[in-house]
Amino acid sequence: MSHTPPEVLEALHALLNRAYAPYSGFAVAAVVKSGSGRLFGGVNVENAAYPLSRCAEQSATLQMVSAGEREIAEVWVLSRGLEPATPCGGCRQVLSEFAPPDTPVHCLSADGPALHTTLGELLPYAFTGRYLSKPDKS
Ligand code: THU
Repeated sequence: MSHTPPEVLEALHALLNRAYAPYSGFAVAAVVKSGSGRLFGGVNVENAAYPLSRCAEQSATLQMVSAGEREIAEVWVLSRGLEPATPCGGCRQVLSEFAPPDTPVHCLSADGPALHTTLGELLPYAFTGRYLSKPDKS
């Protein structure tokens, strides 16, 4: 069974070429599917002041929220090379703001195998708004 529809794969590869990663040389593309089924893409955008760099998953999530959507239903991440890169810890936390633990996360490598997992596997015991008595996104 294919986990990645052709339009998502096409979007990921197009995005990968737009990543701005002059310092690390490590390009990343991400696509999130919202609750309504729309696709939002993002790339990593680095900065000469390194800590201000933005990861691809966060770029995609910000695009989705800026478009008025607050539910992530599925996530894809693409990087080059043989090994699929998984979302960093910060990205797992950002995704978990809008994605439940059973959300599928597909980590694709351009030249190697894919890793299919869920956000809950990547970030067990997530810290969420429920600890702050703010369980909804309004
Ligand atoms: N990066 C992402 O875009 N997503 C991740 O989840 C892991 C890391 C980016 C950040 C930086 O621009 C480059 O990859 C190397 O760390």
